Formats: sequence, C-alpha cells, structure tokens
Amino acid sequence: MVTTKTYDTNRREGCQLTTTPVLIDTDPGIDDALAMLLALSSPEVSVEAITTVAGNVTVELGTANVFRILDVVRPARPPRVARGAAAPLERPLVTAAHVHGQDGLGNLDRLQEPDGRPRYPDPAVKVEMLDGPDLILDTAERYPGELVVVALGPLTNLALALKRGAARLRLARRIVVMGGAVSVPGNVTPAAEFNFYVDPEAAAAVFNAGLPIELIPLDVTRQVLLTRAALAEAVGRAPGRRARFVEDFSRFGFDFADSHGEGGIALHDPLAVAAAVDPGLVQLEPFHVDVECAGTHTRGMTVADRRDIAPDRKKAPNCRAALRVDVERSLRLFLERVCRTSA
Ligand code: BDR
Ligand code: CA
Repeated sequence: MVTTKTYDTNRREGCQLTTTPVLIDTDPGIDDALAMLLALSSPEVSVEAITTVAGNVTVELGTANVFRILDVVRPARPPRVARGAAAPLERPLVTAAHVHGQDGLGNLDRLQEPDGRPRYPDPAVKVEMLDGPDLILDTAERYPGELVVVALGPLTNLALALKRGAARLRLARRIVVMGGAVSVPGNVTPAAEFNFYVDPEAAAAVFNAGLPIELIPLDVTRQVLLTRAALAEAVGRAPGRRARFVEDFSRFGFDFADSHGEGGIALHDPLAVAAAVDPGLVQLEPFHVDVECAGTHTRGMTVADRRDIAPDRKKAPNCRAALRVDVERSLRLFLERVCRTSA
C-alpha cells in the first residue's frame, strides 16, 4: 500500500510536499544509480536528501556519480547532497570496481562523442556543508515521524548518525536497508553480502539500536533480474538522453552478469527503493538479526534467528526482513519508471 501524506507546513524552501519524504544513503554503483532513477521518478516519494558513503567506489567517485545522475534527471526540486564516510568504522575500504567499473558507473567517464568530446563531462559537485551523518540527522529532525531512509550501501553513515544523535535518528518512520543474506549464500563470500561485509561493525550497531528497520536482503533482490531485452524495450518506449544514459552505464553490469552466468543485473538497490515506494511488493517477517564482526570465514554474515522455537526463548525481533517478493510487479514498477522523466 502506498502511503501519501499532505503537509500543511512549508518545511523546505517554501514548498508544500504532497508525498513521503525520502533520504537515500548510497554508494553509486550501477544498481544504486538505477535505484536513484526509480526514486526520482516516483510521484509517491520526494527525494529530499542524498548522502554518499564509501562502498562500491570511493566516496569521492560516488559523490560525483550522484551529481552525474542529477545532471541527467534534472529534478524540479534538487535534493540536498552530502558527502559521507570515506571508510568503514574500523576497517580498510573494500570496493567493487570489478562489478561496477572503475568509476562506479560502468566506466561512463571514458565514453566519447564522435567528435572526441566526453559524452559525460565531469559534473559540478555541490555538496552541503554538513557531512552525510549530520544531513541524515538534520533531515530526520526536519520530517519527524515521516522520513523514510533508504540505505543502499555499507551502513557507516547510519552508524555514525546513531553515535551523534540516536534520538534524532529514531525520528525516522522507516529505515529500509538493502543488505544481508538471511537464508541464501552471500555474494562476496559464502557467508556475506557486500554491504554488510564492507562494514560489519556499522551494520551490527544499526541493527542493535532499536530502529524501525525493514531489511531487503539477497534472498529477494537476487530474484528480481533486469535482462538486456527488458531494458532495451523500456529504452525503446522512452528514447532520449536519460534512456541513453541508463543504457550506457548498465552495459558494464550486463557484461559482468553474462560473464558470471547470471541471467541479468540483480536489482538489489532498486528493490529497496521499490519497497519504500510500495511496501506491498515484499512480505516482511520479524526477525532478530545480528551481523558477524569477528568470524574468520564469516565476516559480515547475517545471523537471523530463524529457529522454530517459542518466541520467549529467542531475542526479541529487531527488524522485519523480506523473504518473499512479487517479482513481476517489482519489475513492472521499475521498467515503467526507470527511463521516464522525473516526477
Ligand atoms: C549490494 O552491493 C553493492 O555492490 C550493490 O550496489 C548493492 O547495494 C548488493 O550486495
Ligand atoms: Ca549499493
């Protein structure tokens, strides 16, 4: 069911909001970019802020990518953007350039027009004075009880926000997290999913903070595959600058998927946005989740208590996790909107 809220106060630059305010925390990343495009074209939500975090690429590259995407979409009300954590809380950064390209967007920065000009010149990067964790707290305070945070990368910014102001972070209505693998293997190691693997300490802190977490793990995101044919059809229906951009940065993702025998690009991050926009797309079940920080072979593993025992013999649930997804409807929502102009 889609939640729509009309605001009677002008909380940002004199604008009246008629949609759910959303903050996206991201490490773009091909699927992050697809997720941002979906959010920016969904009339049910208003993307108020974007915070970047080191993950798929360095935070500098990820921040530049946010502006590359905004340059193409040109939303009527540009979101506030803040640069976030440059490294995990306690460990060196592990990136995923082999999945997303050296620049995070399929090496888009190397593409040229026939006359030799770069097809995507370096964007102007205009970030807030606040850093990522502070912008998260500021936005939660600005929309108390309303803000939906969608976390698409390692949870470093959220963990830092928690340290700086747990009560303010708890003002968020929902925190939708793409990460973890509840009952399926990981995608970095047999045990761990990438976002939790990169900063397990941050993920563990966030899950133990009494936040309204909705987890969108690999269990469901791996089921929602974007094929070349489906994207080509969506591009054909809405040709133009934005469609060409999507094709250009997705090519690397399709090549990676082909070389790994996968049927398409797994829409990990777009499914988290889709669930934020339309919660009915996934079925959430309560779980207690811990994240392994000490294991030799299990760093970043999602330890969800799935034991079929009396609830009073287990720790109380600290999140709701999606283990079922309406694949067809999720794909339809994505394909209808990804190449469309902004909402
Ligand atoms: C997650 O890892 C990243 O590479 C993707 O952007 C997504 O957030 C999937 O495991
Ligand atoms: Ca991501």
